[in-house]
Parts: sequence; structure tokens; C-alpha cells
Amino acid sequence: MKTALITGGLGFVGSYISKDLINNKVVDKVICLDNFASYVDVTNPRYQDYRKFRFDGIMNKIIVERGDAKFYGVVNSIINKYKPNYIFHLASLPLAKIDNLNVEEAFESSVTATSNIIEICSSIKNYKLERFIYTSSSMVYGNFQKNVVNEETNCNPIEIYGTAKLSGEKATQGLSNYYGIPWTIIRPSAVFGPTDMNNRVSQLIVDKALRNEEIDIYGEEEKLDFTYVKNLSLGFVKTATHKNGINQIFNITNGKAHTILEFIKEVEKYIPEIKYKIHERDKSRPVRGTLSNKKIKDHINFKPPYTFEQGIKEYVEYKLNEKKL
Ligand SMILES: NC(=O)c1ccc[n+]([C@@H]2O[C@H](COP(=O)([O-])OP(=O)(O)OC[C@H]3O[C@@H](n4cnc5c(N)ncnc54)[C@H](O)[C@@H]3O)[C@@H](O)[C@H]2O)c1
Repeated sequence: MKTALITGGLGFVGSYISKDLINNKVVDKVICLDNFASYVDVTNPRYQDYRKFRFDGIMNKIIVERGDAKFYGVVNSIINKYKPNYIFHLASLPLAKIDNLNVEEAFESSVTATSNIIEICSSIKNYKLERFIYTSSSMVYGNFQKNVVNEETNCNPIEIYGTAKLSGEKATQGLSNYYGIPWTIIRPSAVFGPTDMNNRVSQLIVDKALRNEEIDIYGEEEKLDFTYVKNLSLGFVKTATHKNGINQIFNITNGKAHTILEFIKEVEKYIPEIKYKIHERDKSRPVRGTLSNKKIKDHINFKPPYTFEQGIKEYVEYKLNEKKL
């Protein structure tokens, strides 16, 4: 039986990767190691927990294991128990902007957990991991010096999240190369889509538009490479299973940045007369833009199936229909 272990598997991105792994018959079962964390105030009456909807249609193919990926003992027993063919490491503090800095949490999941997983895999006799996939972020680039960055662009993160993610990239490369474990690093950006519940800008736009509330935009020119979650998850799976993905770094993005206002205008096609207010940009955030996805097209022959417009349409339709859930 073929299996994949996804740390942070119950999360937004991890659940879509699970579906793509199962639906594309890459593995028979997905083991989701997750510590059941939340990153927004769950006492807020508006808080909606989408986790119970994330595995619709594949529940019998998922094994949920509760545990923290930063603990050597937990990861050791899970990897020894299942000996997965693939490991996707997504468990991490997933937000750059959180009320306090959570420095230790960021480094524990990005560096400690990453190092533990690789060391454990190398220590098991007669076990050959087909691929270790580390989830990084567009924040590793820091302030974009030009409109478009690619995987060769110098990384210079300016805050903790990006710094921890880049440290995890270095741990992945150094240790995996040392132990001869094939690795792939993925850099996603501004992911959006159904079941996100971390109050990222895309979710706030749609939620506030549905409630007819005013949306705050921090920076009229603020641009992000908004990426539909189904493009990202399929890109993860294609890259993890393609030989040209071995020991490579890939941006998996829409490949064209849009301003927040452009995102709002697209949502407005389905929810008319959205109210918004423009404020000064948040200077603690790096200035970003497009993450080129040419490398994944050239090496893996992967083209994101959804356009920016199609992704937003599907997301808004999901939100419009969710009252029926
Ligand atoms: N969503 C985006 O826009 C985006 C962009 C760039 C990178 N990423 C990265 O993608 C990954 C997944 O993000 P997401 O959007 O799905 O977030 P998410 O919050 O939906 O999922 C993260 C999951 O990881 C779990 N988790 C966190 N720390 C853990 C730990 N130490 N041990 C076990 N489980 C743990 C959480 O309980 C959660 O289920 C993260 O590494 C994040 O940094 C996300």
C-alpha cells in the first residue's frame, strides 16, 4: 500500500493535497499528522470551523494522527509506523502577521520539525523515502526588487515568518543532501479558496462583501500573486511525483500579481456594490509582486488549471452556497 504523510494535513492546503493524491491515485492512503491548532480567535461568534468539510469524498482514505511535528518522539513513531512513500511537510505557523511574533513557534515548525523528519527518515533501515517536500513561502524573497521574481532571485526576508521559512529551506537542502534523501521545496503565495479559515485578505474580502461590510485595503498599489488553492495542490502533487522535481525549488503561483482592488473588482461580479476604504500600506510587510511560474512549466510541464478569474468565481460560489451546508 502506498501512503503519503502530510504534516499539517488537516489544514487548508494539506486537505487539497490529500484530495489530489487520492484522486490521482498517487497513494492509497494519506496520513494527516496535525496538532489541531487554530490561528484566529475561535471564541468569535463568526468563527466557522471548516475542517469537517475538508475531506468530503475521501474520508475513508484519510488517517488522522494528532500530534505535534516538532516533537522527535511523535514524528519518529509515525514515520516508523507507516513508512510513507512521500512526506509533505506543511505543519507550520501559517501566517506572517499574527498578533504577537511567535518566533519560537515559527522556527520550531520550519527548522526543528524539518530537521527531525529528515534525520528520522535517514535512520530507518531498509526505508527509502521517495520525496521530502518542504513548504516554504513567497515571504522568503523579502522586498521584491523588481516586479517579477523567480527561483534564482536572491532571498532576503525582512520578518520572522519568511526568515524561519528560509531557514527551513536551508535545513531541507543541507540535511537531505547529506543523507541522500530526494527533496523538493515549494514557495506558494497568497493562497485562496473554499474552507480557508485563517482570515487572510482574500477570505476577509469575500466574507465582508457577503455581510455588506466595509473592506479595509492597506495600500492602493499593494499587489499579491493570489493563487487558487487547487492550482497549488495539484502543482505540489505533480512536482512531488516528477523526476524533474528532485532537489529543486519551485514557485507554485498564479504567475501574475494582482492588486487587492483587482481582487475586489473580480468578487464584485458576483456580490455587487462592495464597500471598501483605502489606508496607508503596512510597512512591516515586504513589497511583493509576481512569482514567476515558468520553472514549473518548463521542468514539470505544469500549467495551473484555473485562471485567477475562475478561482475567484468558484470560491465566491462556494461561499454563496455555504448557508445551505
Ligand atoms: N495559505 C497561504 O497563503 C500560504 C502561503 C505560503 C505558504 N503557506 C504555507 O503552507 C502551509 C499550510 O498553510 P495553510 O494555509 O494550509 O494553513 P492552515 O492553518 O490551514 O494549516 C496548517 C495546519 O498545520 C497544523 N499545524 C501547525 N503547526 C503544527 C505542528 N507543529 N504540528 C502539527 N500540526 C501543525 C495546523 O493545526 C493546521 O491544521 C504552511 O506551512 C504555510 O506557511 C501558506
